[in-house]
Amino acid sequence: MLDNPRVPDAEYDQLLRELVDLETRYPEFVTPDSPTQRVGSAPSEKFAPYVHSRPMLSLSNAFDAEELRAFDARVRKLAGKEVAYVAELKIDGLAISLQYENGVLARGGTRGDGRTGEEVTPNLRTVASIPLRVRGKRVPEVLEVRGEVYLKKSDFQVLNAARERADLTPFANPRNAAAGGVRQLDPKLTAQRKLSFFSYSIGNVDAVSSTGGQFEALEFLRDAGFPVNPNVTKCPTIEDVIAFCARWEECRDELDYEIDGVVVKVNDFATQDRLGAVGKDPRWATAYKFKAREATTKLLDIVITVGRTGTLNPNAVLEPVQIGGVTVRNATLHNEEYIRANDIRVGDIVTVVRAGDVIPRVVGPVLSERKGKPRLFTMPDRCPVCGSAIDHPEGEAMSRCTNAACPAQVLERIKHFASRVAMYIEGVGDVMSAQLTELGLVKDISDIYALNARDLERIPRTGKKTIANLLRNIEDSKNRGMARLLSGLGIRFVGTQTAQILSADFGSVEALEDASLEELIQSEGIGPEVGKSVHLFFAQTANRKMIERLARAGVLMTAPKRVKAIAAALLGKTFVLTGTLEGLTREEATEMIVNAGGKVTGSVSKKTDYVVAGDDPGSKYTKAQQLGIQILDESGLRRLCS
Ligand code: IVH
Repeated sequence: MLDNPRVPDAEYDQLLRELVDLETRYPEFVTPDSPTQRVGSAPSEKFAPYVHSRPMLSLSNAFDAEELRAFDARVRKLAGKEVAYVAELKIDGLAISLQYENGVLARGGTRGDGRTGEEVTPNLRTVASIPLRVRGKRVPEVLEVRGEVYLKKSDFQVLNAARERADLTPFANPRNAAAGGVRQLDPKLTAQRKLSFFSYSIGNVDAVSSTGGQFEALEFLRDAGFPVNPNVTKCPTIEDVIAFCARWEECRDELDYEIDGVVVKVNDFATQDRLGAVGKDPRWATAYKFKAREATTKLLDIVITVGRTGTLNPNAVLEPVQIGGVTVRNATLHNEEYIRANDIRVGDIVTVVRAGDVIPRVVGPVLSERKGKPRLFTMPDRCPVCGSAIDHPEGEAMSRCTNAACPAQVLERIKHFASRVAMYIEGVGDVMSAQLTELGLVKDISDIYALNARDLERIPRTGKKTIANLLRNIEDSKNRGMARLLSGLGIRFVGTQTAQILSADFGSVEALEDASLEELIQSEGIGPEVGKSVHLFFAQTANRKMIERLARAGVLMTAPKRVKAIAAALLGKTFVLTGTLEGLTREEATEMIVNAGGKVTGSVSKKTDYVVAGDDPGSKYTKAQQLGIQILDESGLRRLCS
């Protein structure tokens, strides 16, 4: 299967239902290759086949309360009695099966066509929440666990941001990224996707218990150390199921993973057996599908905004359309390559999706509705803001404005420099930054430190007190230190973490300016791409001059000196942060660790010495537990660093 489907899922479901309907009425027209004749997709030849001991079934769909009631009526008629259901969230990921032998993970594969999938064991081993061993005493000789591999929304955003920075086309949604991740040939690439897992059934349930039902099976899985989604309810009637579906359709955005519906299962295993299956769909379960959060509307125009690093970002101007209760007027088109690859043209009717808290995105045109000659999009050859030349390096997805003094870039750079993650100049937010640049008071970040009261008086509605506060805050920001200064400079690929590493390893901006590319990449965590970007930044005369002005204004250019005794305790120790700490931001915690001699990295490995976990810690926490790494809470971290 291609992990990038062209037809929106909701449209596919609808068409498939129409086809099922037609084939039921006219069975003589059913062909062996009809989409109704397969459960999933045929396995690819890239991987060894993974034969399921029992077929992995698919599910019929219900699209509203009436269809759920009809399902219930059928179930009760066939069962000849009242039945209780289990309602579970339908996780939007990729179905997999795991085989444990004597409690140890032996094999794992995708669902494929339901009978045979693809063996992807090494890849699945990299998924931190998949246990490598079954926990507890009641471990059967062979245990088959089924569930969904998925990508958290937060991890998806980090992944796509990194792809955009690296000029790679971003993934359309977490499911595609997860499906592609599981089917990588190199498990290292799977690991980079930071996939997660929820188990939802036992393949060979008779090996565990011959009585009971789905609810008990989930309890067994939880006790055996498998992650089970906590939002499961036993429902005595279908009306309880309907209420559960309505609640989650409303609250789905509160979750850090995508769900596309609710799976309704008859609880009791004996009744499940009695009901059996028609074709590939069990009669004892169905999937309630949420209404799609996508719509079609007209693409009126494509406008370009210029980002901090000069990237030209194409944005869609849409005829306003309601999607899931929100009016959408704009959507991202990512980059020129995305527009071309998806054949999106101005004037087209396009499909737009809004997935949770992610920015709405244009998926593609509805070709059947294309009329006349919609306009092909071409990137301007001059920056729409400053008129300078555009650079579009071969093989890269993004075009860039070449003028570092472009007002659009300057504004974005100032906003970033003054922000909380960098120099934190209180009072210099989005509005003030815009005023400072519009009045020409600040043309590059070093101008901030040349501002005086007379300059600031020119800003409308700015009184004496505000001016005094602003000047004090600007003065205070001079002492934030090298790491914050570096992350504020907006060097490509240098965020908080990289800035901390560079600051700790080089100690002063001067030393960093003089460092060769070889010296740069000797730092742990600085790869060739980052190294090149840092080297290039300091090779520019304009950047060196700006740094000189900052230094002359009294901005601190060095890292704090470490106290020897403390440094000895944490020197060379590697930390990973996960979850939200109550009293420290991520930047503050990083700063504290680095100042005490330690290092912060992004992922947990055998080399990690400590994991600092806050609220909602996620998969890094589980991985740390699995590897037996010491886990600290906030007070533990404070004790260690003090
Ligand atoms: S049960 C016979 N439970 O939905 C029961 N499936 O067609 C088969 N899915 O791709 C599956 N969350 O991977 C079940 N809690 C859940 C699920 C779930 C997501 C997926 C499953 C399959 C599709 C069903």
